[in-house]
Amino acid sequence: MVAKVTAIPTSDVEDLPSETILFALPDPVLVMDEAGYIRFVNPATEQFFGAGRTFICSQTLAELVHYDSPLNALANQVREQEISVAEHGVELSTPRTGTQHVDMQGVPLNERPGWVLITLQRRSMAETMDRQLNHQGAARSVMGMAAVLAHEIKNPLSGIRGAAQLIEQNVRPEDQELTRLICDETDRICGIVDDMDKFSDERALERGAVNIHEVLDHIRRLGENGFAKGMRFVARFDPSLPPVLGNRDKLLQALLNLVKNAAEAIGTEGGGEITLGTAYRQGVRIAVPGSLDRVNLPLEVSIQDNGKGISDELRHHLFEAFVTNKPGGTGLGLALVAKTVRDHGGIIEFESQPKKTSFRLRLPMCPPGTPFDQVDEDLS
Ligand SMILES: Nc1ncnc2c1ncn2[C@@H]1O[C@H](COP(=O)(O)OP(=O)(O)OP(=O)(O)O)[C@@H](O)[C@H]1O
Ligand SMILES: [Mg+2]
Repeated sequence: MVAKVTAIPTSDVEDLPSETILFALPDPVLVMDEAGYIRFVNPATEQFFGAGRTFICSQTLAELVHYDSPLNALANQVREQEISVAEHGVELSTPRTGTQHVDMQGVPLNERPGWVLITLQRRSMAETMDRQLNHQGAARSVMGMAAVLAHEIKNPLSGIRGAAQLIEQNVRPEDQELTRLICDETDRICGIVDDMDKFSDERALERGAVNIHEVLDHIRRLGENGFAKGMRFVARFDPSLPPVLGNRDKLLQALLNLVKNAAEAIGTEGGGEITLGTAYRQGVRIAVPGSLDRVNLPLEVSIQDNGKGISDELRHHLFEAFVTNKPGGTGLGLALVAKTVRDHGGIIEFESQPKKTSFRLRLPMCPPGTPFDQVDEDLS
């Protein structure tokens, strides 16, 4: 039987008023004119503000949400600078519906000078922030334990290792394999304890200007010659990207963890490809938890792979310590990445489907004149 394909005549789509589409959108959309008067809202906006269209459209945005509201500030910035601006994880107070946690995005309407379109979303990065705060909790619980473990486990372990080395000198060659095994495994446990110990390091980071392209190149070379041999690396760099305000060694370690995960997700199948990207995103700001401040995070660094994708059961706990589905994994890699990004005042997000997983870091830019952070080649 031949399947019948019904072609949609173009005129059907052209006849569909764009308002119908806007009215069906589940996210609030508002349009303001050059004087700040609200000229259009969709039903999701009415629901969001707990008020009808006639009431909302009879006033300016400043009157609706208050002059000091971050929503009003965003609309003014879009209007004055004629750029699109996004703010994430903002607490928005509305007179009738109380405080809501949203992402806001504003764009200038090019055909009408001074007009601004705003969309609001109650999800994504707002949730990312919550999750990051949860990771903080997870990290803290590891911290106390790590300090105890460092003492209580590492000392006896070094005793065991030393004893195994002594025995190694007197045993038959075929038994030396066993003493080697003892040494290797004790080294592995020490490595895990060291990783956990990094969580308890609460000192403020020493930060300088970091050329993130140099860091990514360094990681690419490590991968090509070692853990990602045979995989293709693609660099999608914005050459004009300004330096990151960061700690080079910590950023290198975090990005290396991400690229290693990418290589491990690809595995030994051929055709593996890891894309390292950078971009400048103007107008990405984020609320600082517990304060009214906002930080600009215009520098984006992304690691994408065409591996098997993140399994569903791990998605919601990915950045927590000890979450792993690898036989030899500790599950500390991403927890440490989240800590490093947080220590830099940045955020990390991910998207994943089979053959396309990407981790995206948003980081702050350096004030002009900041000295470069030293290159410490020992880390390689
Ligand atoms: N790029 C990716 N693609 C698919 N799954 C991933 C990717 N990155 C991380 N994961 C999943 O997240 C889990 C946690 O990663 P994490 O780096 O924290 O620990 P790990 O890699 O398992 O162990 P370790 O880093 O200690 O070797 C991994 O076990 C893996 O299942
Ligand atoms: Mg890992």
